[in-house]
Amino acid sequence: MQPGTLVLFTDRPEQRQDLVQALGAVAPCHLRDAAVVVPAGDCIGFVADLNLLHPTLLRGLRALIAEVPRLPRLFLMRDMGERSLATARSLGADLCLPPDAEAGAVAQAMRIRLTNPTTPTIRPPRGTGGTGIAQAADKAGAVLAGLLDAARLTGTVDPMLVDHGLDPILGAVGEAGLGAWLDTVRAYDDATYQHCLLVAGLAATFAIGLGFSLRDREHLVRAALVHDVGKARIPLEILNKAGPLDPAEKAVMRTHAALGHAILIEAGGFDDSILAVVRHHHEMLDGTGYPDRLSGDAIPDIVRMITVCDIYAALAERRPYRAPMPLPEAFRVLRSMESKLDMALVRSFEQAVAQA
Ligand SMILES: [Fe+2]
Ligand SMILES: [Fe+2]
Repeated sequence: MQPGTLVLFTDRPEQRQDLVQALGAVAPCHLRDAAVVVPAGDCIGFVADLNLLHPTLLRGLRALIAEVPRLPRLFLMRDMGERSLATARSLGADLCLPPDAEAGAVAQAMRIRLTNPTTPTIRPPRGTGGTGIAQAADKAGAVLAGLLDAARLTGTVDPMLVDHGLDPILGAVGEAGLGAWLDTVRAYDDATYQHCLLVAGLAATFAIGLGFSLRDREHLVRAALVHDVGKARIPLEILNKAGPLDPAEKAVMRTHAALGHAILIEAGGFDDSILAVVRHHHEMLDGTGYPDRLSGDAIPDIVRMITVCDIYAALAERRPYRAPMPLPEAFRVLRSMESKLDMALVRSFEQAVAQA
């Protein structure tokens, strides 16, 4: 294999000429039949397009990874089930793309990986592997990665994919407790992943504390997982800026609410309450929020709940330029926002967190 080559490992070589062609616009692309064990070679990255539940198909891939462990690697998934995602993880997937990702989107994702090695990955935080809670965070992180990448590359998402993240989060928070969840997901380097997983864990805690039925718990966590999906369309230099945003950057960042709403409308399959959460989670009861300056009764309860979790998460998360705010202090901030937040919900939230 010539140096500087991309490899497409696929178990359906006769059907993937579109992908070879699209990847060929990024770098010379060699197609390898995954059913044939190939020797490792000199390549700059690979796309795996195969059924990850068939271990014999993975031998060539494992040989290549063993030789060059830090190769950029994209996985075009056949399904986003837990077993497939766990296998992709074990093979060090940088990115898991949904089965219907277009060839051009896959090539674009590879181009980004090759030119911007700091692009977020779904690799788990260092030093947390092996525990149940780390595995749960990893699964939820993989779902989030698939969601944000699909939104970034295709402008839409798969509603079914989101549901794969609900069980791991509710299970981990219910069994190991909120503190363990916060410690685990705070270790994620990527701010958006860390934030969304924190909000989801807080939403799970809130729903459990309020005695919600399983269905309602899942619904609140679903809303939390997708609430910032619009950030997928915000330029990375703003999204990942290591410091406070200036006013112009803040204005761009604020578009994420309406962008996320448009993404979910395009996707279809999300009910009105989820759409409301995504569009309105930055509205304030006194009408000072965005994007629509809603106030009072115009803001549904589920939106108010996610807003409380969202603000609390933003205070409690680890940022490169500041340590997490101690939890009692974060509660003091929430209580000081009297005209903006639903204080009855803030009190219930505080109780739920205290009991978790
Ligand atoms: Fe947001
Ligand atoms: Fe948020």
